[in-house]
Amino acid sequence: PVLVVDYGAQYAQLIARRVREAQVYSEVVPHTTPVAELIARDPAAIVLSGGPSSVYAEGAPAVDPALFDADVPVFGICYGFQAMAQALGGTVEHTGTREYGRTELAPHGGVLHAELPAHHPVWMSHGDCVTKAPDGFTVTAVSAGAPVAAFEDRERSFAGVQYHPEVAHSPHGQEVLRRFLHDIAGIRPQWTIASIVEDQIAAIRAQIGDGRAICGLSGGVDSAVAAALVQRAIGDRLTCVFVDHGLLRAGERAQVERDFVSATGVKLVTVDARERFLNALAGVTDPEQKRKIIGREFIRVFEQAELDLKATGDYRFLVQGTLYPDVVESGGGTGAANIKSHHNVGGLPEDLEFELVEPLRELFKDEVRRVGLELGLPETIVHRQPFPGPGLGIRIIGEVTEQNLTILRAADAIAREELTAAALDRDIWQCPVVLLADVRSVGVQGDGRTYGHPVVLRPVSSEDAMTADWTRLPYDVLERISTRITNEVAEVNRVVLDVTSKPPGTIEWE
Ligand code: XMP
Repeated sequence: PVLVVDYGAQYAQLIARRVREAQVYSEVVPHTTPVAELIARDPAAIVLSGGPSSVYAEGAPAVDPALFDADVPVFGICYGFQAMAQALGGTVEHTGTREYGRTELAPHGGVLHAELPAHHPVWMSHGDCVTKAPDGFTVTAVSAGAPVAAFEDRERSFAGVQYHPEVAHSPHGQEVLRRFLHDIAGIRPQWTIASIVEDQIAAIRAQIGDGRAICGLSGGVDSAVAAALVQRAIGDRLTCVFVDHGLLRAGERAQVERDFVSATGVKLVTVDARERFLNALAGVTDPEQKRKIIGREFIRVFEQAELDLKATGDYRFLVQGTLYPDVVESGGGTGAANIKSHHNVGGLPEDLEFELVEPLRELFKDEVRRVGLELGLPETIVHRQPFPGPGLGIRIIGEVTEQNLTILRAADAIAREELTAAALDRDIWQCPVVLLADVRSVGVQGDGRTYGHPVVLRPVSSEDAMTADWTRLPYDVLERISTRITNEVAEVNRVVLDVTSKPPGTIEWE
């Protein structure tokens, strides 16, 4: 792999994604990894990422010069560029000229910027700068604030840039990264979707042998793609389990039972647990209590399904749709506070013995989507927006009853239809519709007074759900949604819009 050494969490994952877009496999490693360990992984190249600090700041992570004796190509970016210059005997100074944001780059000569415009914009973010390149390097670009904005040593396959080639604000950045990987480091581009699928199928076959596997389907992208891959690898020896907890949106069960099954040929068991969940939730209005009950019941139902399957054959494997960012994050230990007790479908029960199969462990979300398309999954599944495990249960403020679910399902279906009709699905992250079952307000319809419930539209834009902004939906779309919901859903007489960002509001209301 190409190893991206992480000096500051903000950029490393993005760099790894960009390297993969150049069709070269890459992984993120913490900067505390000893050089011997890096080299032991036989990397095709090493990229030193940007970081928050100055190389002169107290405790600033340095680069072990031994890295440069290992005969491995190295590319430095921003902080990594300066740390590399320093380790190889160049000069890094605090000149007082700072460059932040869009900056004009003037490249000359070299491979990285060959034939790119003589002046073009790049994204800078630095206080210190390299004033003298180390011996053996050629300076191949300057900017107003950086006398050495890029350097190359083709003999040893080393190069670096002061700016951030990985961000979209550096329009030629991807090309520069590609040239380092392909032309300076001499790596052949082989990380393609077809090769990912092929490799994963081989790996799954090797792991499972002639055993059998279970996969819990949530209706989401990750479990669907993981299941489709495993189905390709072992066919009928995979059984998917889909729990209908009754908290699904309109049409979701059919999407799994009909669309997913016909696209993949997967063997599916649906467990209808609607009544069980409703009974367990009766009288409960506290959000955390709802979440706990739904999580608990889910595990019980899923465990029973597993036991039933185990009784019919050698089911030793459990498939999970874990993605690469989860793997990196749990390795890094974020220590983030638990704001809500999240419930993830198909969680590993403690007392049942399974070996995990995680065919998406190396992939980013966009790669997972492309794998899904490659495997023939429908767009509706591949580009599905996030939907919480506890489902509509946490979008009813008040008690979760059959009647409230029916009301919310109808309102939600209208909102989704109109957003899709307006071609807005790809612009928004998700748009929860929330029923305020505990609230009533007075309205007038026809000649009569109504005393109905409000629903809240919560359209949000986000990159990763950690932070979000409310989406400025066009007024005419809001109007259509509001008119249709109040006309078509008798119990709802008011539609309101949530204009709170996250933080302070979370995306879901409970
Ligand atoms: P919040 O409400 O915490 O939501 O801002 C962030 C994202 O997570 C989704 N969400 C969940 N997903 N199980 C899930 O799989 C859960 O329990 C859960 N709760 C919230 C939410 O829809 C949003 O995308």
